[in-house]
Amino acid sequence: MNVFYPHDDVWQGRSVESDARAATRADIVSPTPEGNSTFPRYFAKASGSHIWDIDGNSYVDYNLGYGPVVLGHADRRVTEAVTAELANGNCIAPLWSKRQSELTATLTSLIPGGELAYLLKTGSDATSTAVRLSRIFTGRQKVIRWGYNGWHDWAAGNPTGIPDATRAETILFDYWDLVSLENAFAQNAEQVACVLIMPFGDEIVPDGHLQEIRRITHSHGALFILDEMRSGFRINLGGIQKHVGVQADLSTFSKAMANGFPISAVVGREEVMKCLGKTRISSTFYADPAPMAAALTTISILRDSEGIEYLWRVGTMFQEGLAKLVEARRLPAEVVGYPPMPFLRFNVPDSATREAMSTRFAVEAARRGVLLHPEHQWFVSMAHTAEDIQLSLDACAGALDCVADLME
Ligand SMILES: Cc1ncc(COP(=O)(O)O)c(C=O)c1O
Repeated sequence: MNVFYPHDDVWQGRSVESDARAATRADIVSPTPEGNSTFPRYFAKASGSHIWDIDGNSYVDYNLGYGPVVLGHADRRVTEAVTAELANGNCIAPLWSKRQSELTATLTSLIPGGELAYLLKTGSDATSTAVRLSRIFTGRQKVIRWGYNGWHDWAAGNPTGIPDATRAETILFDYWDLVSLENAFAQNAEQVACVLIMPFGDEIVPDGHLQEIRRITHSHGALFILDEMRSGFRINLGGIQKHVGVQADLSTFSKAMANGFPISAVVGREEVMKCLGKTRISSTFYADPAPMAAALTTISILRDSEGIEYLWRVGTMFQEGLAKLVEARRLPAEVVGYPPMPFLRFNVPDSATREAMSTRFAVEAARRGVLLHPEHQWFVSMAHTAEDIQLSLDACAGALDCVADLME
């Protein structure tokens, strides 16, 4: 196979543990499907809550493509909607499809403060658009941000390849310390166009926290932008904004919006959104109706079948069961997060030990037929059944025993 592997060094002398870590990192491409990995790398098929690797092993999947698969893999209703759309043609720019106005109307009806919406392809497209709009609207250049907001230059976590001038325009702050936000504003007075954040990380939003970030942001004349890529159409049909009662000037969506089809959106205040008319943000593929049909179908299923409530119920079942397993073993770990996107955090100060524990946990869970990412929060779908949860808890019990062995 003549393939370029960007992180070949990771594969030198790989062990079961390094395989598991690497295989769950999106930027790693595996040289061979066979070998000594316990964590599967090549999938053969995915359906409902399950994924099958090319060796025929099946797993209950809690990665769900990093979150988009909210109804379950290969949902027949979404596939049919997309297939029907494709039969009419999909690459129609510069014309638009009726799906475009149907979907933007759906989004503005669901998202608090959503007066206009613009459709794009990826999450990074959407956050970058929101930043551009905030710059045009405020006439300022700098961005204060927190969390993962995409790969584009302004949001890059890794400075390699990013011009110094670009890096200087983006300031990070500490989500848990709002003095750091005030300081960022003080050091960049009158220069900040927006604060753009993921609404939360692995944990749930503290009471009033987003409201306070919004207040500080507005008091400095900047726009408050929520990156709802993970929380949108998963925590609530109106996003985290509806759940905690806060309204962003702009918010960005993708992932669970279309059960895995490539589409994203910026939604927000009309006067800000209309700045789109002063710039050019377009792509050959933004007008494609098939992913819009996927989104319309996904959203209507979530709405009509109380799908979000189901995610909360099934996620709670998993979280409660896992918490009991951790407690029974007296492990330094804690089940965190909202039920639709739970996680198990190992609480040990030494990062190497912490990594060893979370990796061992993920590897041993995979060995027992359950895919749980060692570093990234997990996701549940409407296809996850009570039986899946029980099977997963049995696997977690065995995996936690192995983690306990590590500590002896
Ligand atoms: C919160 C958040 N924002 C932005 C992005 C970027 O989205 P994409 O990978 O579709 O560009 C992601 C992707 O994981 C994300 O989780």
